Amino acid sequence: MMFEELRIRHVPIRPAHILAPMAGITDTVFRRFIKHLGGCGLIMTEFVSSEGMLRQNIKSRRFLYYLEEERPITAQIFGSDPNHLADAARMIEDLGFDIVDLNLGCPAKKVVKCGGSGLLRDLPLLERIFKKIRAAVCIPFTTKIRSGWSDEEIVAVTVARMAEECGVEAIAVHPRTRAQGYSGRAKWEIIAQVKSAVRIPVIGNGDVMKPEDAEALAVETGCDGVMIGRAAPSNPWIFRQMTEYFATGSYARPSEADRYELIRSYYAMLVEEDTPGSVGKMKQFAGWFTHGVRNGAELRRSVQSAQSTHEVLERVDDFFAVQLQQQ
Ligand SMILES: Cc1cc2nc3c(=O)[nH]c(=O)nc-3n(C[C@H](O)[C@H](O)[C@H](O)COP(=O)(O)O)c2cc1C
Repeated sequence: MMFEELRIRHVPIRPAHILAPMAGITDTVFRRFIKHLGGCGLIMTEFVSSEGMLRQNIKSRRFLYYLEEERPITAQIFGSDPNHLADAARMIEDLGFDIVDLNLGCPAKKVVKCGGSGLLRDLPLLERIFKKIRAAVCIPFTTKIRSGWSDEEIVAVTVARMAEECGVEAIAVHPRTRAQGYSGRAKWEIIAQVKSAVRIPVIGNGDVMKPEDAEALAVETGCDGVMIGRAAPSNPWIFRQMTEYFATGSYARPSEADRYELIRSYYAMLVEEDTPGSVGKMKQFAGWFTHGVRNGAELRRSVQSAQSTHEVLERVDDFFAVQLQQQ
């Protein structure tokens, strides 16, 4: 079966469906929410600054909080100082994470000055970083890259080969350039090129919005695993839909009642765990999640103007009370 299992050294990823790291989204609550729905074999933290970690800042500590039920779990770090990144990787290992991942994709201006996709323009420095991190930890070490800085500087294959030679054990490829941001399409042919250049597992990422896209990605690139980013908050069922689709050729689509129950259960988790910035997280999630919902714009508007978690819940309840009656 497609994407049935992938092993990153001794860590089994089963199925080989991976939740992409997303800053501001993939916190412990969201990760568990996805995991409980089924079909997701590996989750990752949002990226954490190695400098912040060494300063022990509160944000980094919060980003690195996880529960046993989240395993297997990868922590993603970013930075540009080889020694600091090695120290941060050691901290990740000490915290008990299964895998440490280096971010080579972030396009944000303030990040590229000190890591992220900025490192794709300084391969000698990147090689030193790979070697330092590799020497610092025993747990599997992976990386996630963009294809390059710009169309004139595509380095995915070069970086993948270098990573493999330095002992990196899997590579996720989001085949957009830094210059592209999130515009245009992800050029899957670059994933195929990386796959034929290295022996380590290659995880394909970019523009997989439904199970059929994951199938096309596998056929077109031969990649070993699929990583889902933006589709996860808009359709959290996508992981188990992929499992169902690969096994049977079709998959169940959620009803309005399923959607109601799902948004309710995520919000309940946020409230129960007293997540910092819960109201903001609820609004953000409503923005993504309500796109497939009938009259979703109305729900988004109503949630956006709420002042408290209680008010958000009330508005969601009111909206679906009407919605479900009309069915
Ligand atoms: C809001 C947001 C935050 C992101 N944060 C991270 C991050 O912390 N680390 C990372 O490697 N990629 C990050 N990404 C990129 C995603 O992991 C993924 O590579 C990208 O969204 C393409 O996949 P998709 O088409 O499935 O969304 C982020 C993307 C979004 C939309």
